[in-house]
Amino acid sequence: MSSIAKLLEQFLAHPFKNLAAIITAAVTSFFVVRAIYRVTFHPLVRFPGPKLRAISHLPHAFSGERGRQPYDVRELHKKYGPVVRICPNQLSFITPGSWEDIHGHAATKKLLKYGYFKVRPDAQPMLTTSGEEHSRQRSAFAHGFSQRAISEQSPTLTAHVDNLIAMLEQKVKQESVFDVGEWMRFLAFDIIGDFTLNTQFECVKNQRYHPWVALLMKWFRAVSFVTNANAFGQLAPFIMLFAPVEHLKGVKDHLDMSAQKVRERLAIGDDPTRNDLWTYLLRNKGDKALSLGEMEVNAALFIIAATEPLSDVLCGTLYFLALYPEVREKLRAELESCMGSDDALTMANTARSPYLHAVINESMRMYPPIPGGMRRKTPPQGHTISGIEIPPDTVVAVYQLAAFTLPNNFARTDQFIPERWLPADHPERPKDTLGDHQDVFQPFSVGPKNCIGKGLAYAEMKLIIARFACAFDCKVVDDGFAIDKQTAYLFRDRPPLKLEVKMRKVS
Ligand code: HEM
Ligand SMILES: *[C@@H]1O[C@H](CO)[C@@H](O)[C@H](O)[C@H]1NC(C)=O
Repeated sequence: MSSIAKLLEQFLAHPFKNLAAIITAAVTSFFVVRAIYRVTFHPLVRFPGPKLRAISHLPHAFSGERGRQPYDVRELHKKYGPVVRICPNQLSFITPGSWEDIHGHAATKKLLKYGYFKVRPDAQPMLTTSGEEHSRQRSAFAHGFSQRAISEQSPTLTAHVDNLIAMLEQKVKQESVFDVGEWMRFLAFDIIGDFTLNTQFECVKNQRYHPWVALLMKWFRAVSFVTNANAFGQLAPFIMLFAPVEHLKGVKDHLDMSAQKVRERLAIGDDPTRNDLWTYLLRNKGDKALSLGEMEVNAALFIIAATEPLSDVLCGTLYFLALYPEVREKLRAELESCMGSDDALTMANTARSPYLHAVINESMRMYPPIPGGMRRKTPPQGHTISGIEIPPDTVVAVYQLAAFTLPNNFARTDQFIPERWLPADHPERPKDTLGDHQDVFQPFSVGPKNCIGKGLAYAEMKLIIARFACAFDCKVVDDGFAIDKQTAYLFRDRPPLKLEVKMRKVS
């Protein structure tokens, strides 16, 4: 009794100091109890992974801050197997079938996107919508991305690629070693500005980024900062104190400028001489028609979605072609045979080259442009993924770099072997690659929310790579582009791709 009285007396002597001690003790025991729960009774305890990751979000968030998340997750899969608990409430999968079970048609009805944030309060682009709203928007744009629409893009696309090759032919006369990656980004922006915004960015012509483009590049970094900060949970507001705010504000400018361009384009109306995205969209009437706000935010999304991943794949492919001259020679030989009587490489004849397709796939396998995972959350009734029962409210994703580059799914995984993408009965298909789990390779995702620009992206990449590979000889000059040393945030934080570029010697 007297000891309690004594304690009380001591407490009252220093009320604030003691209150602070009690709060500290309470908060500490909350974290301790939660940590113990997360490694004992939590529904995810049966999944392998490091204890620290089961207890706390911090390891994954720090790994994200350093831009090394995809690489760190790959290390975890190497050690713990094809399903790993990478955060207290998150699993990463690299199993065959996991794409379909997480992103396929049936799954999309149940698993919602997780960790995507909305950019404008009044209208959302298709990327951040779901259900009916998503399918309405998606079908409104579908015609604009159809095979037919892509073929109609051929003259515009060809003109941009011609321009690039002509500019580079001038460039190599003055300077042979330069950052080829920058040119790939110039081109990607020029093409998409033309197709979706009725705008000539003229990055290639001016050999520099249009101010709009420069703004976006800073914004990519800022967004990944916010995404990582969210992983800190309750601590996020403190982390946000360090956010690169002026770059985040850039999104407002981007949205405003895109909206302005869309309105200018709509004022022109259905113009038969144009075959951009809006030509197709304006044909939607009634229910299917989009609101002005929806058109504006989607236009802003296209610019972002269509440039970074595309120029990453172009860089990856040119890098591998420079490292593997024998692949480049074989590619040239095949392209020349596809050309036939056309006498030039076109969108139509490059589409017919299986080896070109194989080269692009193999470089996306080794250098996926979206190396991390696109997160979804399991519904209240739980969900089955690759035959495994996953508890409710679990965040799940396929981490692409891990899925594409571990021996679980591919033979001789760190070797660049385009032949592995040839048909199984093709004489050049290496026997040891017949067991590759090709269905795990889904750089564009699968299901109703996969990439709407997949066909356009392949058409662009094929024409650009074919033209470049047949016009120039390239050599890697340093290890600045070494792929395993790179960092990635929302997209890759791509270092310069320094190549020695010369006009091709035709013997
Ligand atoms: C190599 C190039 C590309 C890759 C690897 C790629 C990859 C992807 C992936 C993985 C998604 C799913 C995102 C998610 O679930 O969060 C996606 C969505 C999307 N992509 Fe691409 N993309 C590429 C090029 C393009 C191009 C050229 C466009 C053209 C405008 C485009 C437009 C979109 C759009 C609008 C979405 C959202 C679709 C929806 O939510 O229904 N992408 N892309
Ligand atoms: C390349 O990969 C895509 C997945 O993006 C797949 O559908 C296609 O069959 C592959 N093609 C070749 C030739 O490897």
